[in-house]
Amino acid sequence: MKTMIISSSPNRIGLTNSCVDICIKTLQELNVETKWVVLNQYNIKKCEACGKRGWGICLEEHICRMEDDFNNLQEEMGEYDNFIIVSPVYFYEMSESAKTFFDRLKRCQSFNEDSKLKGKEMLCIACAGGSGDGTENTLHSMKNLAKFLHTEVVDYIGITKKNFENEKERIAESTKKLLKGKVLEK
Ligand SMILES: Cc1cc2nc3c(=O)[nH]c(=O)nc-3n(C[C@H](O)[C@H](O)[C@H](O)COP(=O)(O)O)c2cc1C
Repeated sequence: MKTMIISSSPNRIGLTNSCVDICIKTLQELNVETKWVVLNQYNIKKCEACGKRGWGICLEEHICRMEDDFNNLQEEMGEYDNFIIVSPVYFYEMSESAKTFFDRLKRCQSFNEDSKLKGKEMLCIACAGGSGDGTENTLHSMKNLAKFLHTEVVDYIGITKKNFENEKERIAESTKKLLKGKVLEK
């Protein structure tokens, strides 16, 4: 069992990374191989909608023509059994680095009948500031993402500073749900 955590905050000591820490700790306790991808550290450009009708080779070849970190990361995702997506809420949406990556991933995977992501489990977490405004919208975008990736979502969790303490247990429990009882606690 292998889990990939994909987060998208540059803030090392913020709420996003605090949620990631809980997921990693939970997975380590269960001896699950884990990779943590921080999208901000990758060179992933925005989609150019390169074809005349708005589709490039992504539609039929399920890769992108641009030479940056996207194709390698997309391919690597195929090697993982499940995913945890954690994004800060910026302007009522996922952060820019998440949107940029997932925009291209949707294009490559939504019409890929042989997609290696199909049917895999995903946990979605959105981390907002004091108001929490935009959390629902961000989680809704993640729901749409899952639809286009043909993944199954085990939980959608909205986090703010106010509810973080109370939601820690839920983050850990939902992380375990991803594993479908396939690993034993040490
Ligand atoms: C550019 C930017 C836009 C933001 N927009 C929102 C927002 O729309 N709603 C909200 O509740 N918080 C907003 N925030 C606050 C973050 O969601 C908050 O800091 C949260 O803790 C996640 O970021 P962190 O991982 O850096 O802690 C914004 C922060 C930044 C930097």
